[in-house]
Amino acid sequence: MTKSFDVCVIGAGPGGYVAAIRSAQLGLKTVIVEKEYLGGVCLNVGCIPSKAMITAAHFLHRLEHQAPEMGIEISGKPKLNMKKLVTWKQSVCDKMSGGVSQLLKGNQVEVVFGEAEFKDSKTLKVVGKNVDDLIQAKNFIIATGSRPIEIPGFKIDEKEVLSSTGALALDEVPKKLVVIGGGYIGLEISSYLQKLGSEVTILEAMPTLLKGVADADCVQVVARKLKKSGVQVHLNAKAKSYKATGKSFEVTYELDGKSEKLKADKILLTVGRKPNSDQMGLKKIGLKIDERGFIETNSQKRTNLPNIFAIGDIAGQPMLAHKASHEGVLVAEVIGGQNRAYDAKTVPAVIFVDPEIASAGWMEDEAKANGHSELKIGKFPFGANGRAVSMMEAEGFVKIIADAKTHIVLGVHIVGPEASNLISEAALAIEMGARLEDLALTIHPHPTLGETMMEAAEATLGHAIHMIQKPLGGASKSTGSTSTAARVH
Ligand code: FAD
Ligand code: NAI
Repeated sequence: MTKSFDVCVIGAGPGGYVAAIRSAQLGLKTVIVEKEYLGGVCLNVGCIPSKAMITAAHFLHRLEHQAPEMGIEISGKPKLNMKKLVTWKQSVCDKMSGGVSQLLKGNQVEVVFGEAEFKDSKTLKVVGKNVDDLIQAKNFIIATGSRPIEIPGFKIDEKEVLSSTGALALDEVPKKLVVIGGGYIGLEISSYLQKLGSEVTILEAMPTLLKGVADADCVQVVARKLKKSGVQVHLNAKAKSYKATGKSFEVTYELDGKSEKLKADKILLTVGRKPNSDQMGLKKIGLKIDERGFIETNSQKRTNLPNIFAIGDIAGQPMLAHKASHEGVLVAEVIGGQNRAYDAKTVPAVIFVDPEIASAGWMEDEAKANGHSELKIGKFPFGANGRAVSMMEAEGFVKIIADAKTHIVLGVHIVGPEASNLISEAALAIEMGARLEDLALTIHPHPTLGETMMEAAEATLGHAIHMIQKPLGGASKSTGSTSTAARVH
């Protein structure tokens, strides 16, 4: 059967389903094609299940290690039922994916379950359990996402070598886990599996964790905490191969030119993800794909074929759900005739480790590379914030980078409790071109973690109330303690 639409979206992740809903809201006849699950990687095997597991592990950790100090006495050690936890995690995903189904239906988006492939640039063939359709559309939006990268010596089978998908579905905590890759996924999964009882070792090829992804001062706080909690981290370590030794495995890696070995019950491979652009006949129809595999798009997310758009993980870094959704709305509005182009100044990012790291805007070297030769940098510690102390979550700080002359906020980097929720204020400040004074003079309610943003702005100006600062004028080094001065470059 051949069906015709104004818009055909391929892939129902946070890019695709958002694009479909917005298209339908604009009165466009819309279909979405999905081969596996509504909500994509994000809702089913990515953002949501990982955050459910992280929440549970953090809860257990607080019960074990913090509740007794607060006078909450639990008879015996709190016990983990991993099977029940995984069932609960799945129920969270199902609820979210079900919600997407209802939203699509409520907006009159037609949903077709099946695997899509382009026959030509104007026709899509969809093959599924009960479908064998041809779809013609005036506009196609490709939102088919990404998948894990493999390296020589390690093939993901979800039994011995796990990807994040396998790790999130484990119904037993592995005794010894070797994690290859100390990036976003490796660290998030390491953090929660360690809390649930795994002995975790991370092999990272670069000289630091989260290299180039997060502010180095923030990473140090997390690296220290990982070490304290017993997670082993080997930097400059390249995983080479593994072999079975009885019921467990021996992983060989290279460290400073020497071959080393480690025991593991499971191996988690998290060395990055690659766009799914080698599928669906995209090359056959003449779509331009860059050397890293991303579909090339302009500022409206239009490809070199004028009726085809690409959004989300398949259309470039950063591979983050909120960037995919932002692009989904943008493309629907472009198709709907609105005069729009991608003009966001920042895509905030969060790494849900312990404590959380969140950032918006530039790091110091990026700010300098973008023409801000003189910077004002200040930090305010959570240790001096009443709410953080009363939550027993007082590690970390808020760091602000601003232009020294104009005081315009260029970057905010947070490591600490609820960094994920605090960062939105920073993103708004950057989008609005706010100055340090705007943050410092906005009344923030007390006692809240949000006050750290106001005090970090004050600290950058040299006059935070709840930390002792040296008199303004002298350039001094910031050490991040409560008695530091704002650093003036
Ligand atoms: P996807 O979510 O990958 O969706 C693509 C969809 O297309 C899938 O449903 C797929 O089945 C479908 N599809 C593919 N090929 C076809 C075809 N031929 N025919 C039909 N359908 C097809 N990002 C964050 O912002 N925050 C987080 O906390 C976060 N946590 C993550 C945790 C993990 C473990 C992982 C793996 C990722 C995480 N991410 C996170 C990244 C986030 O999941 C992705 O950036 C986001 O899902 C990308 O959205 P998308 O719409 O581009 O693609
Ligand atoms: P990543 O790019 O974040 O990290 C991969 C790490 O593996 C890097 O540090 C790299 O140096 C290392 N590495 C590469 N080859 C190696 C080798 N042979 N041996 C040892 N280390 C090696 O990739 P990751 O963690 O797989 O995540 C993929 C993407 O998913 C992220 O970039 C992010 O966009 C997204 N994501 C976002 C999350 C969030 O927003 N909270 C959470 C999880 C994923």
